[in-house]
Amino acid sequence: MTDLSQPSQPAPLPGSGAQPEDSGTAVPPPLWLLAELTYRCPLHCAFCYNPLDYTDHNRELTTAQWLDVLRDARALGAVQLGFSGGEPLVRDDVEVLVEEAHKLGFYTNLITSGVGLTEQRLGDLKAAGLDHIQLSFQDSTQELNDFLSSTRTFELKQRVAAALKRHGFPMVLNCVLHRYNLPHVDKIIEMALALGAEYLELANTQYYGWARENQAQLMPTREQLEEAEAVVARYRRTHGGRCKIFFVVPDYFERRPKRCMNGWGAVFLGVAPDGAALPCHAARGLPGLTLPNVKDTPLREIWYESDAFNRFRGLSWLKEPCRSCEEKEHDLGGCRCQAYLLTGDAANADPVCDKSPFHDSVVKIVQRAASASVSGAATAAREQPILFRNDANSRKLAAAAREPGVGGDHGA
Ligand code: FES
Repeated sequence: MTDLSQPSQPAPLPGSGAQPEDSGTAVPPPLWLLAELTYRCPLHCAFCYNPLDYTDHNRELTTAQWLDVLRDARALGAVQLGFSGGEPLVRDDVEVLVEEAHKLGFYTNLITSGVGLTEQRLGDLKAAGLDHIQLSFQDSTQELNDFLSSTRTFELKQRVAAALKRHGFPMVLNCVLHRYNLPHVDKIIEMALALGAEYLELANTQYYGWARENQAQLMPTREQLEEAEAVVARYRRTHGGRCKIFFVVPDYFERRPKRCMNGWGAVFLGVAPDGAALPCHAARGLPGLTLPNVKDTPLREIWYESDAFNRFRGLSWLKEPCRSCEEKEHDLGGCRCQAYLLTGDAANADPVCDKSPFHDSVVKIVQRAASASVSGAATAAREQPILFRNDANSRKLAAAAREPGVGGDHGA
């Protein structure tokens, strides 16, 4: 998953040098458009951030509708564009969308598992103007890579990585970390170096979507994290000039929350496969939030006027203890999705913060992970097997959520 917290500054619109349209409000324009082209995916990752009920939202926008989204977002001022999914390459129009995005002046990034990235498509995407490809791995070993994605894709990813180099793309590898692969961080870095990666993003699992369902199996111990951080620091010293290594710390182990999405409705605009507009990639899981759809509402209206994008924008909605907190301008109350998942109210302070009355819920999750030894985790996985992201499981979860009285799990 790409780090959304550090957006680039907006560039002038191509052509005339004109600036993004004036909104007439104090709200800045979106900078980052994430186009989730499809929920279809050949992988079944246990930590996927797609919504659990994604099978209920699988009527995808057409190519023409996506082209309109790109034009409207660029007119609003967006400059960075990520194509993701699911696996975006299951659609055969990615090249068309990249070409238009390039003409519009977006900096484009394809976020992919590598499945479907043939030599032909790589060449076509290069010709269309694609700037950047982020290739995901699940681990440095075939066994764990293939287990966690429930596929046989490890060797394919190695071949794709080599092909990326041949086609002159910067090599950006991404690996989501958790208790099973944190002990292999050195091997993961070695693999990235051997493949010639210029960038390696080691992103600790964020517990939304399918990862939240699998939290008991995936949550690491503090010792695992500290050891992995020390390994990363060592490699940065010895190989930092060759490969830039990012290590995204899991916020359950912090005492202050992250400034999630760099603020709600501040820089990030996501569009789901069915056209739902998302203030954050996990917003679909928030009950009571009606997501506007690009099929029936102009993007400008969605960004500036919709309830979904204004609900947690700025600071005026904050409740105590955030409202009177001197740090509120820094973290903006933290993550809304985490607040909902752990307290049942998205407007509460993110319970990662130790000033939150619900902070204990986070402490208990971390303690539970500490008390489960690695062999204990294997036992737990047998007793409560990992729930892989696939259509059958999604349909079951969607059906269960539709039953009256069945809500999210807000307990810790
Ligand atoms: Fe939704 Fe943080 S993930 S606000």
